[in-house]
Amino acid sequence: MSFDILLKGGVLPDGSSADVAVKDGRISAIAPGIEAEAGETIVITGNLVSPPFVDPHFHMDATLSYGQPRINGSGTLLEGIGLWGELKPLLTHEAVKQRALAYCDWAASMGLLAIRTHVDICDDRLLAVEALLEVKQEISHYIDLQLVAFPQDGLYRSPTARQNTIRALDLGVDVVGGIPHFERTMADGRASVTELCQIAAQRGLMVDMHCDESDDPLSRHIEQLAFETQRLGLHGRVAGSHLTSMHSMDNYYVSKLLPLMAEAEVAAIPNPLINITLQGRHDSYPKRRGMTRVPEMLAHGIRVGFGQDCVLDPWYSLGTADMLDVAFMGLHVAQMTSPDDMRRCYEMVTTQSAGIMGLTDYGLEVGKRADLVVLDAGNPIEAIRLRATRLLVMARGRVIAQRAASPMRLNIPGREADIDRRFLVPDPR
Ligand code: FE2
Repeated sequence: MSFDILLKGGVLPDGSSADVAVKDGRISAIAPGIEAEAGETIVITGNLVSPPFVDPHFHMDATLSYGQPRINGSGTLLEGIGLWGELKPLLTHEAVKQRALAYCDWAASMGLLAIRTHVDICDDRLLAVEALLEVKQEISHYIDLQLVAFPQDGLYRSPTARQNTIRALDLGVDVVGGIPHFERTMADGRASVTELCQIAAQRGLMVDMHCDESDDPLSRHIEQLAFETQRLGLHGRVAGSHLTSMHSMDNYYVSKLLPLMAEAEVAAIPNPLINITLQGRHDSYPKRRGMTRVPEMLAHGIRVGFGQDCVLDPWYSLGTADMLDVAFMGLHVAQMTSPDDMRRCYEMVTTQSAGIMGLTDYGLEVGKRADLVVLDAGNPIEAIRLRATRLLVMARGRVIAQRAASPMRLNIPGREADIDRRFLVPDPR
């Protein structure tokens, strides 16, 4: 048998060594020492070969707009929403599209090949929806882009958000979004969860709501989201994004809440970089971290994926499309420092997030689409520690990005060496 591409000597995320053979855009073999003809053989000895990174929570309509028309002075979520409201009327179809495509170039170069982006539907022009639907088409041969209809200004608080949600879904937006904590009252927030879940159930769609993105321990819309998921039979198709209020909730209440989430198979999408910067802004000291309870959710069998949320936009002034930055911050904030926990952090920016997005053709398995990334690291933990350089990115069986590992040359007399900072510790398992 002859293959199109043969990657020789890689290390799989589980630590085993294997070659990966690709044919007709699919992974056709994974095994040590594959000896076969190949159109191209690429030696990746000792480097991690991984399924691509997945970002389950992003805002592509806002990305790369930092400074337009001004920056967020207070650093709060609410000023960010206000600032976005100033920018929205100034948006053009072409500008949204160009920024999104520029960001997707970054993403592709970082091995980030699946992104769920919320798109604000509160602009009656639905300009960002149309622009991102075009982007989705144009990048479909290398990135899976999933769109969420997101009523940024509130389903009921914004006068046209209900009809615009339906319009956006009719145009082909994939997922139903929401923002219950931003409605005028707790009751409106609860009602918005119910209505949006009903829309999703009627249309057979997934749900992903910004939910309880606040430090208010009484913001409990996740309870309603789990209830509606259960009532409408949406198990496994619903995610709550952020859930930061859970950080501040009463422990007894959480001890009841987490089993309800697990029972309804509601997934959680914390966004560590954004949660640690936006939350706790009204605190003096001690300041709350604001990230939701990740280890406790995992212990209850709740699926968790880390999202990036923002890059260079009204809410966040940094970011590089590097999901290893996200995993690195999540690991620290959640104090997930054991070897098993660090590996789970890697899974939360790859396989777990792919599961939340419902990507069925994803994974480093024979027969799956040949999407993968090769990293200058020996295993997933080292990839997080180094925020490792991407050496090769493959999409649909084609190498779409490649670079050579280039260690820094140290020229200190007596200490001349190539420095690559790799340091493999023995696997404790
Ligand atoms: Fe968000």
